[in-house]
Amino acid sequence: MVENLFEMELGMLSQDIINNFVSPDGTNRIEIDILVRQFSAQLFDFLTNSTELSPLPALNKIDQTFFQIPISGQSIQEIQDKLEKVYQLSMNAANPRYLGHMDSIPSIYSILGDYIASALNNNMLSLEMSPLLTQLENNLMIQFASLFGLPNGSGGVMLSGGTLANLQALVVARNHKLKIKDGNVYSLSQQPVVFTSEVAHVSVTKSCMLMGIGSSNVIKVKSNQNAQMCVDDLILKIDEQIKLGNVPFAIVATAGTTITGSIDPLNEVANIAKRFNLWFHVDAIYGGALIFSVEHKHLINGIELADSISFNPQKWLYVAKTCSMVLFRDFSGMVNNFRITAPYMKDQEDFINLGEITVQGSKYAEVLKLWLSLLGLGIRGYGQLILHCYVLRDIFVAKIASRKWLELAANPDTNVICFRVMSFDADQCDRLNEELQIYLLRQCGFFVSLPKFRGQNWLRVVMINPFTSPEIIDELFTKIDCFLHNLNLN
Ligand SMILES: Cc1ncc(COP(=O)(O)O)c(C=O)c1O
Repeated sequence: MVENLFEMELGMLSQDIINNFVSPDGTNRIEIDILVRQFSAQLFDFLTNSTELSPLPALNKIDQTFFQIPISGQSIQEIQDKLEKVYQLSMNAANPRYLGHMDSIPSIYSILGDYIASALNNNMLSLEMSPLLTQLENNLMIQFASLFGLPNGSGGVMLSGGTLANLQALVVARNHKLKIKDGNVYSLSQQPVVFTSEVAHVSVTKSCMLMGIGSSNVIKVKSNQNAQMCVDDLILKIDEQIKLGNVPFAIVATAGTTITGSIDPLNEVANIAKRFNLWFHVDAIYGGALIFSVEHKHLINGIELADSISFNPQKWLYVAKTCSMVLFRDFSGMVNNFRITAPYMKDQEDFINLGEITVQGSKYAEVLKLWLSLLGLGIRGYGQLILHCYVLRDIFVAKIASRKWLELAANPDTNVICFRVMSFDADQCDRLNEELQIYLLRQCGFFVSLPKFRGQNWLRVVMINPFTSPEIIDELFTKIDCFLHNLNLN
């Protein structure tokens, strides 16, 4: 009776519903194969035509019925019609004239890695639920730690984005230095404080807000004219805080700041951290990729002295978002200062379940797309991509230097270039650069971003797309010259 009922209920699933899944016995393989090919063809029509589309579509308010959840499943055609609009109205970083942010075009292996990871749908929460992929993550993190020059015993974990990576590093720093893994910050008699440069990424402040340290207890250290942390001011600020009775516990240096790509003096900051017995974290979310560059690796010398390093392969390693990691000099120290065991996860002898030692619980297998991308390009391939970016940077910077109305915000340490049209009046300068940014996007098909830097509007480009060529840079400057000419500025 019960069996009959079960069969009857199973029988109620129509083929339309069943074809939303890949049948494990292969019975609908042909249908699924056709479906996947259709979607893949539509995707590649978009990807291989991205130079024809704006790098950044205009922000149109979408009729909300477009997002309506349907009562019944829709046909392939209806779904593809919806997707067409998604393609047309999405950021288009594949366009080599998309220059405005640290958004790379994902390598094909990283796209495939995402596809396969989603299909496998393992859960990086535990070894039991991702037997090989957990080991892969462990192993790759040890290799990355070693590429950064960290000693034996170092390692790390992967997370969904750099903010989480910085958060985990600072939580471990706080628990280790203030000995409060099982206590709480509010019971401390003295206020803990963290130091970072005034141009560091907001995720440092956000992390301290989340950690109960308080965003106002992130002490902002002055930066020099190249947007690098001033070590004299760092010492001054540490002394000040100690005199106030507060407890400094960490310094966050940046290797590749968000707006100007600047690299803090890592060796000097490391020495200061040692002198005051502070945790030394390096936010190498962007510049960490330099470990693959024979020619430019020296720019991050001193990173090997860090207690922790955060790094986003989703940026300069051309891995699809999201893909981030946080590495620790003393991996078992991190475990002691972070691990919360979960009773529903089986204990393993040699491996710690990743869900117990990361901010996330259920965890996506970000590692697969990273690994496939590394297999496809190798260390040498990445080195060549980075060198190509530096060649483009040099061409770009030379063009700025040869125009008397353009100025740099900082000498770029990486491939991030922040510049603007000069003007004696600050408000006029802001307006002028905003107008130029809009002109380049709407009339010339170039996306250059417009960040605020030291309170003013600047233009910013990131020379990261392998298909951005010297000819495209020439074209951009012809447009800038034309804009300036119309204002009688050149
Ligand atoms: C230097 C730096 N640190 C941290 C982050 C935060 O990374 P995410 O946006 O992946 O959270 C960014 C983002 O651009 C960054 O540039």
